[in-house]
Amino acid sequence: MEKTKLAIIGTGGISHCHMGGYLALSDICEVTAACDIDEAKLKAYGEKYGIKNLYTDYNEMLAKEELDAVSVTTWNAAHCGATVAALNAGCNVICEKPMAMNTAEALKMEEAAKRNGKLLQIGFVRRYEGGVEAAKDYIDGGEAGDIYFANVSYLRRNGCPGGWFGDLRYSGGGPLIDLGVHVMDLARYLAGRPKPVAAYGVTFKKLLATEGGEKVWVSSTTGKFERNVEDFATGFIRFDNGFVMHVAASFSLNIEKDTGTVEIFGTKAGIKISEPLQVYRTDGTNDIISAEKYNKSAAFGDIFIREIAHFVDCVRNGTECRAPAHDGVVLMQMIDAIYESARTGHEVQITPLG
Ligand SMILES: NC(=O)c1ccc[n+]([C@@H]2O[C@H](COP(=O)([O-])OP(=O)(O)OC[C@H]3O[C@@H](n4cnc5c(N)ncnc54)[C@H](O)[C@@H]3O)[C@@H](O)[C@H]2O)c1
Repeated sequence: MEKTKLAIIGTGGISHCHMGGYLALSDICEVTAACDIDEAKLKAYGEKYGIKNLYTDYNEMLAKEELDAVSVTTWNAAHCGATVAALNAGCNVICEKPMAMNTAEALKMEEAAKRNGKLLQIGFVRRYEGGVEAAKDYIDGGEAGDIYFANVSYLRRNGCPGGWFGDLRYSGGGPLIDLGVHVMDLARYLAGRPKPVAAYGVTFKKLLATEGGEKVWVSSTTGKFERNVEDFATGFIRFDNGFVMHVAASFSLNIEKDTGTVEIFGTKAGIKISEPLQVYRTDGTNDIISAEKYNKSAAFGDIFIREIAHFVDCVRNGTECRAPAHDGVVLMQMIDAIYESARTGHEVQITPLG
């Protein structure tokens, strides 16, 4: 089989993680082109990775290059346009999280993938953690019983990445759409992908202007951006099978230190996602389950390598995708509903998709 030919659209911070995944598979794939609207960044990227075909317009790149697949790693506002263009050009796509700015965009992307018969994978990279894979096996094996509640959070004390991340026009929102998306996805994925039916949420803009402190992730993009997203969001979501989820996410919050929690509770056991997994059973016993028990590597550092390897495997071999477009669409429904509830002060009904 010939090498899979790929391109990167958006050569900022996270694109290097995608490149790391492709470079690890250099015997079966190669990145032959890259695109960024920032010429200087694009040129430096080309030099760093030896990519010669560089473009500032993805439409031009898609028209001129023979590509099998692309990584869409732009800021959120460009995900939909770049993804739909790439799918229409006959490419398979892995698009970073959040899938889009909102559900309407996400649906357009999913429709383009279906119409063109191409794969659209969403960058839910935490699904590839050893602890998450072990928890999925544990839950799918019935050992946790019926799952009915998840408590998830992703809280930073002072961690707005700056740049476009704080500007609604480019990001679509603050910590809920940027960070909450990771843990909300994990909870729904582990709970067996139920359909959300209603959400109640609240957002705050109390501390966002706070400067200083250690930044966890910093946008590689500088420029004139506004700071108008929420700095803290919390929400409660109900699902069609009775499952409920509580989420909290912050860029800025006066807590001791940055922290993340994914706890999922069933009739036989509750599970706290960590390495190793912690299990609390109904019979009063507790357990610690190492990911190795399930033959899953526990390393956090290589989750992007695993994610990209899965994408390339799906593209080359038609393997069933672990993070398909539809999961991204449903997540956007949950996020839209929390933001709408925060705006209106009321619970928002979500129309389940087929
Ligand atoms: N999976 C994760 O854990 C994770 C972590 C960080 C960021 N992300 C996601 O990755 C995406 C990028 O984040 P980042 O931190 O790399 O941002 P960044 O600011 O470092 O890079 C974004 C790049 O996109 C480019 N761009 C914007 N519009 C474009 C267009 N139309 N065509 C070509 N290039 C365009 C910008 O010029 C910039 O270089 C975001 O969606 C973010 O949410 C995911």
